[in-house]
Amino acid sequence: MAQLWGGRFTKSTDQMVYDFNASISFDQKLFEQDLRGSRAHVKMLAAIGVISEAERDQILAGLDGIEADVKGGSLEITSEYEDIHSFVEANLIDRIGDAGKKLHTGRSRNDQVALDMRLYTRDQVDATSDVLLHLLETILGIMEEHIDTIMPGFTHLQKAQPITLAHHMGAYFEMLKRDVLRLKDIRTRMNYCPLGSGALAGTTYPLDRYMTADLLEFDGPTLNSMDGVSDRDYLIEFLSALSTIQMHLSRFSEEVIIWNSNEYRFVEIDDAYSTGSSIMPQKKNPDIAELVRGKTGRVYGALMSLLTTMKGIPLAYNKDMQEDKELAFDAMETVHDCIVLFDGMLATMTFNSGIMANSAKNGFTNATDAADYLVNRGVPFRDAHGIIGQVVLYCIDRGIAIDDMSLSELKEISPVFEEDIYDAISMETCVNKRLTVGAPGHDAMVEEINSCKEFLESCRS
Ligand code: ARG
Repeated sequence: MAQLWGGRFTKSTDQMVYDFNASISFDQKLFEQDLRGSRAHVKMLAAIGVISEAERDQILAGLDGIEADVKGGSLEITSEYEDIHSFVEANLIDRIGDAGKKLHTGRSRNDQVALDMRLYTRDQVDATSDVLLHLLETILGIMEEHIDTIMPGFTHLQKAQPITLAHHMGAYFEMLKRDVLRLKDIRTRMNYCPLGSGALAGTTYPLDRYMTADLLEFDGPTLNSMDGVSDRDYLIEFLSALSTIQMHLSRFSEEVIIWNSNEYRFVEIDDAYSTGSSIMPQKKNPDIAELVRGKTGRVYGALMSLLTTMKGIPLAYNKDMQEDKELAFDAMETVHDCIVLFDGMLATMTFNSGIMANSAKNGFTNATDAADYLVNRGVPFRDAHGIIGQVVLYCIDRGIAIDDMSLSELKEISPVFEEDIYDAISMETCVNKRLTVGAPGHDAMVEEINSCKEFLESCRS
């Protein structure tokens, strides 16, 4: 037990209490962030004259040494220390002696951990955004390739109207684009530095909080020291954004699973992204999509957990807040991996265009257009709806599509039908007449694809 406190205690800590209280097993993830924060803090302490420049340099060299030894494997982060902050400080003192004891001047572990967690989260916000943008590139590639690939659009999982694969993919592009924008908003809102808040009430040293904020690439210091040490809103926002991303990926996964099923066969998942069965030799299972869907639960769990942890905590720091880490780390890693794997699965998936087009054609997805044909020839819509209803019934009885009926068969149901009905209800016509903004028609999709490209371009600059 290498503790940073103990002066006012007469007994040593019970081992179970020590273990229950310790966080090093999981907060060692914050090692690099802790060093970054300490470097900024000592530079500032020297700048305001609280420590000398020589002490600053000794401390910086000591921190560099700790970093090199941990990364090189000669120094291990062990449970002998309560948390990562104690590990760094104790090792620094071992290494450089008295100067090391000055590192924590004007600082509390409360603002230190608030800073470390914020730095870590900010890095994760950026990393999540990067992999999401890569997934958006993949989706855009499919949209460009399949701008004319016809498939049925569904409502209630019943075939509704013909759309294109580009159009379907475009819906996910929009969802994930909003996720990228959400991350951007969160980053802007969270980018203030809590270091210098002290335990809760600031410090009596004339700390230059603008300087540390600047060194750590924040837009400024947080403006209330009690809030600085006890705010975890930014993490709740991030977990909420991660939950939304995961919800989107889960819906998308559900569709991939349906499309990959023996009944649909719209897609085939690449062997590299499928798994087999130990007993049924014919099986090729969509496990990755199922796992992405399944892992959604633990991500929502992390959000619910932190919301619940935070709901009854009086100001300012309380140890409950140590619980902000494990599930949040897990959620960040889970969502990151889910995005990367989903992206790989999508990029290598084969789309069976012929099967999709046939499914659209054989599902009466052109029935609305057939009714519109009659309306354009003067039949009131409600009557047209009834006539096409009869046409559909006629087709169902015979197991055919509307397009398969002869003109005389059609005329028997309504004399308004003429030869041009076939062109009017072809899948291509049905799709390409839909040209309102955001619709699947070819020309509208060209516009949509252009705005997707512009979005990705704007994210790169
Ligand atoms: N391990 C603690 C956490 O994660 C660090 C802060 C400890 N501060 C304290 N006063 N005990 O929250």
